[in-house]
Amino acid sequence: MAAAGAPDEDEAIEQGRRLFEAPWGFLKGVVDLAHLPAADRPEVAFAGRSNVGKSSLINALVRQSDLARTSNTPGRTQEINYFLCRTATPSFYLVDMPGYGFAKAPKPKVEAWTALVKDYLRGRATLARVYVLIDSRHGIKEVDRTILAMLDEAAVSYQAVLTKADKISVTALAQCRSATAKALEQHPAAFPEVLVTSSETGAGIDTLRAAIWRLVAERRAT
Ligand code: GTP
Ligand code: MG
Repeated sequence: MAAAGAPDEDEAIEQGRRLFEAPWGFLKGVVDLAHLPAADRPEVAFAGRSNVGKSSLINALVRQSDLARTSNTPGRTQEINYFLCRTATPSFYLVDMPGYGFAKAPKPKVEAWTALVKDYLRGRATLARVYVLIDSRHGIKEVDRTILAMLDEAAVSYQAVLTKADKISVTALAQCRSATAKALEQHPAAFPEVLVTSSETGAGIDTLRAAIWRLVAERRAT
């Protein structure tokens, strides 16, 4: 991939900015796979442990503070939520998911949505990429490994995104990034580059928009 500041990367950043320029809206929340929207365009999904910052990252991408609902309490997002921008070209869905792992919600409920997330991740043909969010303070946890192994098994393309980069030192962040990249070398479906973001400061958001643009533009070309 071109280095930051190289013409290709500058172009992708500009295209990514445009892709998220117009307002995004909530399309629907899904609690069972039978009610997923028609698989008529690519989709980009955000997965990760409860409270890792999935909904906040979507809000940062679209520059709308309240598109996806966020909370201090793990377990805020309890449905697979679809977002759409009717004028974005190429057209694609953003998909926010319930978190896996610890959540402050009744156990049967958590088990039901974890099963839903797994079934969705394994079976959605139009899923262009899963961004697997990892809290930069904690790195990859056991529950993440289970999901990564499942994505490898299902051959679903995924990329790790470190979140909450504003909460740790530059040194600790660099260590987490290289440890995560090293761990991912063992995972065949993982994209090798690890993205680093902060929804609070906006760090890394333009790079993520550019990556999403590349992805959906490629899908359209095939
Ligand atoms: P669930 O839907 O419960 O799985 O959580 P989620 O992964 O969607 O997390 P959410 O976006 O709701 O964020 C959880 C908490 O982390 C909220 O209090 C956010 O304000 C905070 N948060 C998210 N991203 C960042 C970030 O980049 N920096 C900081 N400092 N806080 C963040
Ligand atoms: Mg959420």
